[in-house]
Amino acid sequence: MSKSKTYRIAPSILSADFARLGEEVSRVEAAGADFIHFDVMDNHYVPNLTIGPMVCKAIRPHVKIPIDVHLMVSPVDALVVDFAKAGADLITFHPEASPHVDRTLQLIRDQGCKAGLVLNPSTPIAHMDWVMDKLDIVLLMSVNPGFGGQSFIASTLAKLAAVRQKIDAHTSAGGQPILLEVDGGIKVDNIAAAAAAGADTFVAGSAVFGAPDADGGYHGVISKFRSALAAA
Ligand code: DX5
Ligand code: ZN
Repeated sequence: MSKSKTYRIAPSILSADFARLGEEVSRVEAAGADFIHFDVMDNHYVPNLTIGPMVCKAIRPHVKIPIDVHLMVSPVDALVVDFAKAGADLITFHPEASPHVDRTLQLIRDQGCKAGLVLNPSTPIAHMDWVMDKLDIVLLMSVNPGFGGQSFIASTLAKLAAVRQKIDAHTSAGGQPILLEVDGGIKVDNIAAAAAAGADTFVAGSAVFGAPDADGGYHGVISKFRSALAAA
């Protein structure tokens, strides 16, 4: 993999201090984050409940970088419109959560956002087929969705490589670029393996927001991610 490749770090605010979220997102942007990853859970599609469009709207003025909204909700479509109005830049959803995946992808783009699918560890990558031209991003879950702080599932590496091949075949045939994001259990010691397998965008929640101040805090861990990626 070329060292000039662009890699993006997307800290997940799921592990941030929710009592001072505005400060947390601006600190993580100053520390070098490329996206704010915003995990939306509905206690229905996943067994946890988090934050919605009002919180997205509240943090929007605190950062310039894109807000990457990961919808773990069912149904999906009404929230797409609400999040676009609340300042989301990218919106991803799980294909199992929408009865009309093509329509939902188109809806996200019609709202002026980048659109993408999220595939759980056991979800086949064939969900990408027939909607490749409507994808701006594919997010592979490397944990089962619902909670931060879980361990990286190793089979994600082979799956990243398979999705990378599909994306590269699509772009070399003249298709639009598609980001390949990985989410769950990303740490300084495994980010290079995920990059080598084909990921270009890395969600990290507990690794960033749990980084000890003694080790340089958010800036320290993001710098370590970049060094590991440069060596990948
Ligand atoms: C899990 C979420 C992840 C999570 C990542 O459902 O989608 O974004 O916050 O957290 P870590 O990096 O701690 O695994
Ligand atoms: Zn996520």
